[in-house]
Amino acid sequence: MEKYVINGGNKLYGSVKVQSAKNSVLPILAATVLADGPVEILNVPQISDVKNMVKILACLGCKTVYDGDNIIIDSTSADCYEIPSALARELRSSVFLLGAVISRFHSAKIAYPGGCDIGLRPVDLHLTGLKRLGVQISEKSGYIICKCDRLRGNEIMLDCPSVGATENIMLAAVKAEGTTVIKNAAREPEIEDLQNFLNKTGAKITGAGSGTIRIDGVKKLCGCEYQPIPDRIEAGTFLIGAAMCGGEITVDGAYPENISSLIHKLTENGCKININNDKIVLENHRTLASVKSIETRPYPGFPTDLQAQYTALCCVCSGHSIITENLFETRFKYVPELRKMGADATVIDRNAFVRGVERLKGATVVACDLRGGAALVLAALAADGSSEVLDISHIDRGYGAFEYKLRMLGADIVRVTV
Ligand code: EPZ
Repeated sequence: MEKYVINGGNKLYGSVKVQSAKNSVLPILAATVLADGPVEILNVPQISDVKNMVKILACLGCKTVYDGDNIIIDSTSADCYEIPSALARELRSSVFLLGAVISRFHSAKIAYPGGCDIGLRPVDLHLTGLKRLGVQISEKSGYIICKCDRLRGNEIMLDCPSVGATENIMLAAVKAEGTTVIKNAAREPEIEDLQNFLNKTGAKITGAGSGTIRIDGVKKLCGCEYQPIPDRIEAGTFLIGAAMCGGEITVDGAYPENISSLIHKLTENGCKININNDKIVLENHRTLASVKSIETRPYPGFPTDLQAQYTALCCVCSGHSIITENLFETRFKYVPELRKMGADATVIDRNAFVRGVERLKGATVVACDLRGGAALVLAALAADGSSEVLDISHIDRGYGAFEYKLRMLGADIVRVTV
């Protein structure tokens, strides 16, 4: 087990380069199963979700080369359609493989996926969509077993704009016979990134980013080299950290338009933000004003993946805030840990009621999921005194070189093996 030891109170100064988006790289890795040739994905973050996804692809018979920056996947020799359960349970994005493996082998077997414990996280929309494309699905002793003679295009209306279901259906439809139209599709930038990747391999997909995606089935996809979009959630995490600690940082290589909802909120809090192409400069040297109400929504609304980090910021603003989590049932598990640091925050159902305090104080806290863990780190950096953040394997799932990047900005943080 590893922990962070943090001495809070330092202001943050300097520039930080954003990694390729975790939630783009993972579905793109799943998509490599469909390509008849090597795919190279550039500037991939060194995070455990990526490492586990690469291990799964190797188990399917794909040739994988991961040099820590770029990944080369050659699925030409892939010959297995059963995703190992121990790995599948490590991450949510293993479920994206269903669509790709079904398309490649017309069979697939996968254990129910893992991922952050932030709610029920059903996969009913994934399975309904695959059935509409002609897949027969049975569920037995924790496994999802899929078979199909052929995949046929169809119209699919999603009950809610699920990111994973949208991506899974895209992957199953890309080589199906005929045309598939996904209505009420997720609009996240990572969906558009997956479309752009697939089209670079020879797919015919339009509409990603809008609520309706059209996929005209093709016979063959080829290898390619691809640079995924920058990680908007990592960018937002650093911006919130600088807002909480004070100082002036430049987030380099971000797409500001992908986190405009956060930028508007931080401006409302009183931060000075300048945008210059792919550089976002945030400056703050005073106590922030609270924003009264924040509600997480599907993109382009305020991202649920920044809810925890922003709630930590609300804890050190002057005034009251109510944060409402509309996507996941239990995404406030980190709040009791913030209270150990002196936060005045109470959770009732899907709402966190926060009254800002002047300073948080260092404490020993436990990370319980990826973004909640990141929120605890930001709180510890802003707090007076020393903190320990335990069980940081959750954070390692989504942030590459996190403590290194924070130290480059002046934070006093070290990783310790316990
Ligand atoms: C993706 O998860 C992201 N993960 C999550 O990021 C992100 O929080 C989420 O999208 C929402 O933006 C990856 O891309 C690997 P959903 P996913 O399906 O696909 C309900 C992070 O921190 N739903 O869009 O699992 C579900 O219960 C992670 O990086 C169904 O009801 O999210 C939830 O309420 C955490 N049935 C809502 O949709 C289904 O079949 C949104 O879930 C699927 C989802």
